[in-house]
Amino acid sequence: MMTFFCIFGETKFKKQKTMKKTREHFSSRFAVIAAVAGSAVGLGNIWKFPYVLGSNGGSAFMLVYILFVIILGVPLMMSEFIIGRRAQTNSFRAFSKLVPAFRWSFLGILPTIAAFFILSYYTTIAGWTLEYLYQSAINGYGNSDAETIKNSFDVFSHSMTMPLVWQLCFFALTAYIVYAGVKQGIEKYSKIMMPLMVVLMIGMCVKSLTLDGAYQGIEFLFAPDFSKLSGQVVLEALGQAFFSLSLGMGILITYSSYMSKTEKIHQTAAVVVFTDTLLALLAGVMIFPAVFSFGISPNDGAGLVFVTLPNIFNQMSGGYLFAVVFFVLLTMAALTSTISVLEVIVSLVSEELKWGRKKATLLATFSVAFVGIFCTVSQGAGEEYHILGKNFFDALDYLTSNWLLPLGGIFAVLFVGFVMKKRDVYDELSNGSTLPIKWFNAFYFVIRYFAPIAIFLVLLNQLGVFSVL
Ligand code: PHE
Repeated sequence: MMTFFCIFGETKFKKQKTMKKTREHFSSRFAVIAAVAGSAVGLGNIWKFPYVLGSNGGSAFMLVYILFVIILGVPLMMSEFIIGRRAQTNSFRAFSKLVPAFRWSFLGILPTIAAFFILSYYTTIAGWTLEYLYQSAINGYGNSDAETIKNSFDVFSHSMTMPLVWQLCFFALTAYIVYAGVKQGIEKYSKIMMPLMVVLMIGMCVKSLTLDGAYQGIEFLFAPDFSKLSGQVVLEALGQAFFSLSLGMGILITYSSYMSKTEKIHQTAAVVVFTDTLLALLAGVMIFPAVFSFGISPNDGAGLVFVTLPNIFNQMSGGYLFAVVFFVLLTMAALTSTISVLEVIVSLVSEELKWGRKKATLLATFSVAFVGIFCTVSQGAGEEYHILGKNFFDALDYLTSNWLLPLGGIFAVLFVGFVMKKRDVYDELSNGSTLPIKWFNAFYFVIRYFAPIAIFLVLLNQLGVFSVL
């Protein structure tokens, strides 16, 4: 079972001097995909996608999202893979290792800032997931009606204790896994978890689609309504694509540094993007018919999924078991994402400041948790305190997903497009010219011009520099 050990075994490498020179690689194609998909698939698909889609008018958002995932997500993911596999080092060092004269490597710090803030608010929702796991286990929502379920959520999220307790539990779990290096154990389960999650979600989609008034949800998701299209919708779709695919944060650079030299970069990117998008779509089809059927408002905000799901379980035969298994899987999916994010911070602190892993993990966890507490409180008791017109949680989410991650993405594509040698890029993509990459020039055009310009235009439009939408 070298497979997952090798992804995270950096500390162990240092102890074994003989291994220092040769970097371990994933042992199989599936292992690479499972690890990258483990980071990509998480609360972003099941919690955030439905909630952001619901708050941005439904089908218009859906179309723009899918467009971005295909035309930007795939080439951007490929670019991160090219950097990582070529450099064979962490995301911070990769740039200067590939091109030592490159003066902008300090910008590699940007993704670590994004990682810090994303982890601080992601764990708020991961904490909510633990509460719902607990409630399903004790059958706390069994037989409650939609209104009671919504009220219970409001009471819970406004309480000063339980959301914080659960969030801190989640931090402890993540830190323990990152520190103890037992990630390979957790990651191993993603082989079983991911397919099981898909099966479970298909079951829930079927239930949701057979509820009274379900067609309204399907219409909301898929009937094109361009009147809802706006600069804000486009920006949110862009941010969601980055967030959901774990792009722009250097995670994929690090993972791909363990990828074998025979791996087909373009195929891996396509499979991961497809899987991630499939899960988001399933989440949409699972949630929205039920939202309309139970009279919940689609723009209910961050709590949308949590106030909707128990209603579906209550309607299902075997709903109790379904609920418990679903929330266990959601917790695990969140965990494979949080460990990938914490790893970014810990590896930077321990490798650049030469700190021990224990110290680095503790420092990173405590400082992220400190900010995280404010995120959790701002979703409930402290919701009236605003920054940028939003509560603290939403402001951090907005800033990181919609601005920092796209900027990190632009940085990566410009690096591959203009700083690396074209020959090296081709060499990496074609596995040393062993694969025929006939579409190379099209890809090169996309990462040099199309992707950075498209992302820039979305950002400038939103800054009000010009206004198309
Ligand atoms: N992609 C993860 C999800 O969908 C979250 C994440 C965002 C992970 C950014 C890493 C980086 O849940």
